[in-house]
Amino acid sequence: MSAKKWTPTSWKKHPAQQLPEYPDKSQLEETLRFLKNMPPLVFAGESRDLKDKLAKVADGKAFLLQGGDCAESFAEFHPQNIRDTFRVLLQMSVVLTYAGGLPVVKMGRMAGQFAKPRSSDVEVKDGLTLPAYRGDIVNALEFSENGRSPDPNRILQAYNQATATLNLLRSFARGGYADLHRVKKWILDFAKDSPEGERYMRVAREIEHALAFLSAIGADTASAAALRETDFFVSHEALLLPYEEALTRTDSTTGDWYDVSAHFLWIGDRTRQPDGAHVEFLRGVKNPIGIKCGPSLKPDELIKLIDTLNPKNEAGRITLISRFGAGEVEKYLPKLIRKVKREGRSVAWICDPMHGNTEKSSSGYKTRQFDNLMTEITQFFDIHQAEKSWPGGIHLEMTGQDVTECTGGADAIRDEDLSQRYHTHCDPRLNARQAIEVAFQVAEKLRELRGNDEDWGQAAC
Ligand code: PEP
Ligand code: CO
Repeated sequence: MSAKKWTPTSWKKHPAQQLPEYPDKSQLEETLRFLKNMPPLVFAGESRDLKDKLAKVADGKAFLLQGGDCAESFAEFHPQNIRDTFRVLLQMSVVLTYAGGLPVVKMGRMAGQFAKPRSSDVEVKDGLTLPAYRGDIVNALEFSENGRSPDPNRILQAYNQATATLNLLRSFARGGYADLHRVKKWILDFAKDSPEGERYMRVAREIEHALAFLSAIGADTASAAALRETDFFVSHEALLLPYEEALTRTDSTTGDWYDVSAHFLWIGDRTRQPDGAHVEFLRGVKNPIGIKCGPSLKPDELIKLIDTLNPKNEAGRITLISRFGAGEVEKYLPKLIRKVKREGRSVAWICDPMHGNTEKSSSGYKTRQFDNLMTEITQFFDIHQAEKSWPGGIHLEMTGQDVTECTGGADAIRDEDLSQRYHTHCDPRLNARQAIEVAFQVAEKLRELRGNDEDWGQAAC
């Protein structure tokens, strides 16, 4: 399949969904020429390392935690916001590693998650029809003629923001912030007094005791890299193809093409047409790739997609991100799992409980109910267990901020609370407490799966 020659521009010969129409084409071309000379955000070797780690997820030996904003925005760009999301992901990964007893691959929807697919090309307000908001890399959320016009300068601003974000993330991951000896410090002030915060502190104390024990018997915990630093990868939806193309380079060690805008890229549920431009683009780059699997994806089509993107069936190359909605999972997921298994394709399966569970609250906000998200995750685990397949991870829209965008959770956020701190530029995100609560519940499932249901993080010490 698709034996045709691939080039970074061959996607242009395929039908493309969800791409903006730039009014000034020559300005766009000039911007892209400039971007082509900008440094890569990531190195090919890092993407290969991630692919090896995802091969372990596919093999049931690791778990993937992927999370971050639905849409990063220029307005919310602040080192504190980056730090807070990073540390919630660290906390979640500690909980999952501790309970599951297996490596957790940490990946942000960060440092490039700017472009958004939309269900309609236009938005109508008070009789005025304007182009839909497509993420800060394309146009502005502000509902005005000027704001909604796609502006190539935004591509450079997004690139610069992604670069600065990744630079900070790398420092956090490698520069001492993620040192396991600081496990207690990662908790955010507003999360401390919640039941999840207290439970987290119990896990943290148990880890501290373990570290003290290791050091007492003479292990050099202060300089062990596995304790002092962590791996953190970044990912986004490969939607705005001109941006992705401009950041696609050949790797000098292997001669292969890599999209150096992120370690991992995924194809959205709206742009995964087997003959479409997005699939064509991604088949030629060697990064590990995600495919969103929603209700309209048929088993045969999935195999076709996998074969186009991974003709050599390499482990770690494909991660399938299922997003069906609570109660819908049973209808769709088992058929896909069985087909992939029967055909012998190597994939990692992870669950995005967000995008099949979006609804409009009675107060008019786009929201998601915590219980529906947990139901979809639980069904995902149960189905994989029944099919003897590994539930390899979760994919969340979340933030370290104390927002009120999803209802429910331990704080029982209600519809009428949503207006208090509703800041998202696109879909509603879990706040830090809700995200940690998900981690604890998923950790229970991992614990059950691995046949160890002893209490953990429960006993007071
Ligand atoms: C997303 O992950 O932000 C998204 C738009 O998801 P999906 O393509 O699954 O709808
Ligand atoms: Co979203």
